Amino acid sequence: MPEEKKRKNKGTEPIDLLPPEEVIFGCSSAMQQVRRLATRICGTNVPVLLNGNGGTGKEVLARWIHAHSPWSNGQFVKVNCAAIPAALLESELFGYEKGAFTGAYSSKLGRVELAQHGTLFLDEIADLSLGLQSKFLQFLQDGRFSRIGDECERVVETRLICATNKDLEEEIEAGRFRADLYYRINVVRLRLPRLSERGEDIPLMAEYFRAQFEEKFRKQSEPLSAGMLNYLQKLDWPGNIRELSNGIARHVLIGAEAKIVQGPVPGRFDQARESSRTVGIIPLKQLAREAVREKERSLIFEALQANQWNRRKAAQALKISYRALIYKIRDAGLLSRRVDDLTSGRQNATSPSRSAAE
Ligand SMILES: Nc1ncnc2c1ncn2[C@@H]1O[C@H](COP(=O)(O)OP(=O)(O)OP(=O)(O)O)[C@@H](O)[C@H]1O
Ligand SMILES: [Mg+2]
Repeated sequence: MPEEKKRKNKGTEPIDLLPPEEVIFGCSSAMQQVRRLATRICGTNVPVLLNGNGGTGKEVLARWIHAHSPWSNGQFVKVNCAAIPAALLESELFGYEKGAFTGAYSSKLGRVELAQHGTLFLDEIADLSLGLQSKFLQFLQDGRFSRIGDECERVVETRLICATNKDLEEEIEAGRFRADLYYRINVVRLRLPRLSERGEDIPLMAEYFRAQFEEKFRKQSEPLSAGMLNYLQKLDWPGNIRELSNGIARHVLIGAEAKIVQGPVPGRFDQARESSRTVGIIPLKQLAREAVREKERSLIFEALQANQWNRRKAAQALKISYRALIYKIRDAGLLSRRVDDLTSGRQNATSPSRSAAE
């Protein structure tokens, strides 16, 4: 491995987890423009805003910028603002002190602190609540913040990368996004093209994915014919690179009879919108049920962590019966979380949980 790559590997996000550069950027002119700008700004601590539809590679580019920055030995800390319930996001971002609220049995480091001398990647930034937007804006102004329930201010130096598939200017007009925060985070903006705008990159990417999945599934597959590659280049790809990658996974797993293209694969939000258009009120109910379930799951996980996974104590804290908690833990698939949680706790007593965010 070249010397430079070894150096980058000291960070917590090794560079060799990324696709090779020729695959990330390909040869399309749209991506060459992205590459030029990304190369120019990766060494300077300016906030970067990544715009692009779902599956266009925003996270991959954020990791590439981190890996090529002077902060690559620090952590790449991702916060998905849409995936963490609003009630938990503040503590997840900024941490809290013991006793700050009911259930805060010990103090907890926030992700902002974890990103000290590294990169903080705020994914789906448009979903940050207005309240948190102002707290975050304060932090961006001077790098200072307080953990919940803490008097003292802390200072963190980090590189900020934000990503969204929404139009933030429209969000500002609709009153859902603060204009002053927008101007803070939008110092350099990179727009990731849709896969259909970079069709010439598809053959290289498809071959890359095929090799990856052959290794992952320990399976040989037929090379993609010139005709097939030509056909793939002409498609629309609403799910972008993620959809292509899924198609190639099917090709490797199932073989020639698998359809690489299975019709539109909408993104999470599009999917909700699409189904509400076709099925009326039912998806709304489903969404509400899922939101409640997700919230309950996070609260149970927090209570378990706070009680070192003692389920009897956690049940008491949650004011539900022990049997009900056991049932809910199984139902929410939290058992595997316990292993991860305890393992990371043993390795590093101060490391915070990655709880509901991932
Ligand atoms: N240039 C690339 N080369 C190879 N694989 C890529 C590239 N860009 C993205 N991918 C792969 O495509 C998938 C989607 O990428 P990523 O998660 O970065 O997209 P995204 O824009 O963040 O999507 P979303 O908006 O849905 O979160 C991932 O599996 C990623 O590894
Ligand atoms: Mg993403």
